[in-house]
Amino acid sequence: MVSLFGTKNAGWIGVDIGSSAVKLAVVSAAGKGVELTAYSIVSLPATAVVDGNVQEPDVVAEAIEKGLKISGAKSKLAITSVPSSAVITKDLQISVAFIGMELEEQVRVEADQFVPYALDEVALDFQVVGPLQGNTALNEILLVACRRDDVANREDALDSAGLKCEVVDVDTYVMERVLPWLERDAEPSTVGVVDLGASTLTLNVLREGKVIYNREQAFGGNELSNTIQQQYGIEVAEVEKQLRMREISDEIEEMLVQPFATAVAQQVSRALQFYYSSGSRNQLDRVYLCGGVAGIEDLDSIVGGEIGVETLIANPCAGMKVASKINPVKLEVDAPTLVKAVGMALRSLEKQG
Ligand SMILES: Nc1ncnc2c1ncn2[C@@H]1O[C@H](COP(=O)(O)OP(=O)(O)OP(=O)(O)O)[C@@H](O)[C@H]1O
Ligand SMILES: [Mg+2]
Repeated sequence: MVSLFGTKNAGWIGVDIGSSAVKLAVVSAAGKGVELTAYSIVSLPATAVVDGNVQEPDVVAEAIEKGLKISGAKSKLAITSVPSSAVITKDLQISVAFIGMELEEQVRVEADQFVPYALDEVALDFQVVGPLQGNTALNEILLVACRRDDVANREDALDSAGLKCEVVDVDTYVMERVLPWLERDAEPSTVGVVDLGASTLTLNVLREGKVIYNREQAFGGNELSNTIQQQYGIEVAEVEKQLRMREISDEIEEMLVQPFATAVAQQVSRALQFYYSSGSRNQLDRVYLCGGVAGIEDLDSIVGGEIGVETLIANPCAGMKVASKINPVKLEVDAPTLVKAVGMALRSLEKQG
């Protein structure tokens, strides 16, 4: 079985492979706190990652290698993740009599009954959660299944970049891990985390730290970049660089970015409507915006005004120490884009088990 959960952990580089850019982050324990020791963001050509699938592992590998150089990260061990839409999870109950290889075999037998692909096309992993409450003869087992290609192409990209992929995590678990760093002094509550990427808007709703809802919409910063390219004849790669570096002209800002911010707010509102219509009675207390598009000026107040819920720009590093080689001004700008990479890297600090 491949390791979707992993066992060892030390200094893993979080590698977030997005459709427009690879984001790397490394964290380490620093006294009682945590330090961001390295990070980088490297753009990808549009053909490298499409619909969440790594189409060109070599191109992604090149970007990762570049990111390693820029960040100065020393570790060779990495963690990456797959979108939760690519993953099927299932709670199984299996007799405590099964252990080791026998348990693995039993998990495969049970998995075969609900995974809608041939088992040899599927990467499986499981975790023994513990004895079932009320029936200690059974173990509760959390099974995670994912198309092998989704995992293999990511692992290939990391491999070719000279990294060893220790764990392929799932985006929802990554969000659960990073949430306390977004919330730091807030009360436990129901919060939405909206990832505004280049091609996808993902809403995760977390209640008391656990993801209770997850949905993706095909909407993202590509729409803005493509429009700017069409109307001003600037190459998409250049547009994205200018947006990220806050170097876009005042005219484009006014004519295209600001109207796009309104469209973003409407899409977030639509995502929330889907959540509420899914039957959940948990009102959102707060919404965090992350991903590159969250860098649009004043997006927090524009979205907040539209949805009527307190809205903040996510900063996963606000409560962390920051290594002296990192430029704090640049980090402030990049932080919302690093949410997932930091969430992955944080797994290095979890106790083994
Ligand atoms: N300041 C900004 N204003 C507007 N858009 C921005 C800004 N900074 C970055 N973007 C846009 O954000 C997108 C990149 O964000 P991010 O790196 O989170 O996406 P991704 O992870 O590659 O995409 P996805 O998650 O959809 O696969 C690009 O479309 C880029 O143009
Ligand atoms: Mg992304």
